[in-house]
Amino acid sequence: MRVWLTGGTGFVGSNIVHEAVVRGHDVLTTVNRFIPEDPTAYLTDRVDMTDAAAVAASIRRFAPDVVIHCAILNDFERIYADRRAAWDSYVGATRHCATGAEAAGASFIVVSTDWVFDGTQGGADEDAPPNPVNLYGVLKVASELVAVERGGAVARVSGVNGVHRARPDSPRNQDPGFGYFVASIVDSLRQSKSFTVWESDNINMVATPSLASQCGELMLRIADRRLDGVFHCCGADAVGRMELAELTCEVFGLDSSLLRSGSPEAQAMPNVPIPYDTSISAPRTAELLDHEPTPVRQLLERFRAEYEAAA
Ligand SMILES: NC(=O)c1ccc[n+]([C@@H]2O[C@H](COP(=O)([O-])OP(=O)(O)OC[C@H]3O[C@@H](n4cnc5c(N)ncnc54)[C@H](OP(=O)(O)O)[C@@H]3O)[C@@H](O)[C@H]2O)c1
Repeated sequence: MRVWLTGGTGFVGSNIVHEAVVRGHDVLTTVNRFIPEDPTAYLTDRVDMTDAAAVAASIRRFAPDVVIHCAILNDFERIYADRRAAWDSYVGATRHCATGAEAAGASFIVVSTDWVFDGTQGGADEDAPPNPVNLYGVLKVASELVAVERGGAVARVSGVNGVHRARPDSPRNQDPGFGYFVASIVDSLRQSKSFTVWESDNINMVATPSLASQCGELMLRIADRRLDGVFHCCGADAVGRMELAELTCEVFGLDSSLLRSGSPEAQAMPNVPIPYDTSISAPRTAELLDHEPTPVRQLLERFRAEYEAAA
């Protein structure tokens, strides 16, 4: 397949690129601020996703079989401070990618999130109506609607952990969600530093972790089968933060006595509502992709292998 994507230099996107390249697909990712040094396995094109003409031209030149829109303006403060930029970066960019895909006769996938749910909808399946509690969730739901109404697919990922394939040394800090949670624990405990697992009613306390590489693998399967509609690219198990931290210690052979429980650091908290339980289920995804969701222990074992191979 010829795979054109946005955000291939980001955390999730770099895993889509990696999974596509190892399967022998031809890949082009847009780049924005970060320019990878001399990639030989894939092409890059400097394109601002909010620039309709640039997106259209890049897609037209590459003539892809699938367009995967993964990039985001990943900045909570900025999206609240500049609603125009936020809307253009999420909903506008999704429209540009969908239009480019249509013109190229390519299928279209937008990457989305479990934060489209409100935190009380634990176990929500692909058909559950979203009810976001913050602007990020609203922007993602609006982007999802664009994709679905244009005949595309939505690949929701949740609590994504894994190796950043483009910027392996980028900071891995705990945040109010589950992304990077496992790596941040491993990094601390391997240096014999204690790690405070944040526990609070105001953060994402329960989620269904997924592994970035597996998310990429599932998206490529959606593309290969030219499927549309909503997919949940996630693992099998809903877990709490401390449960995931303890399991991480078991799988990575780390000293769990270094784990503490505490409140989130005030400066790491965006001043917006955060959904509490964003666990999701994936019956439609399992059926259409012939994929049995992976238990969280197995995902962590896979992550350990990737983490050590990348070290
Ligand atoms: N990480 C998670 O735990 C998680 C959970 C749920 C859903 N998701 C979804 O997964 C997707 C990727 O998230 P991520 O965590 O991988 O984000 P990320 O690491 O911050 O990557 C964002 C990517 O978007 C690019 N980008 C930003 N502005 C751009 C622009 N104007 N034009 C073109 N590219 C631009 C960035 O390039 P530069 O860095 O060069 O600007 C970067 O490659 C998003 O759709 C997100 O909603 C992620």
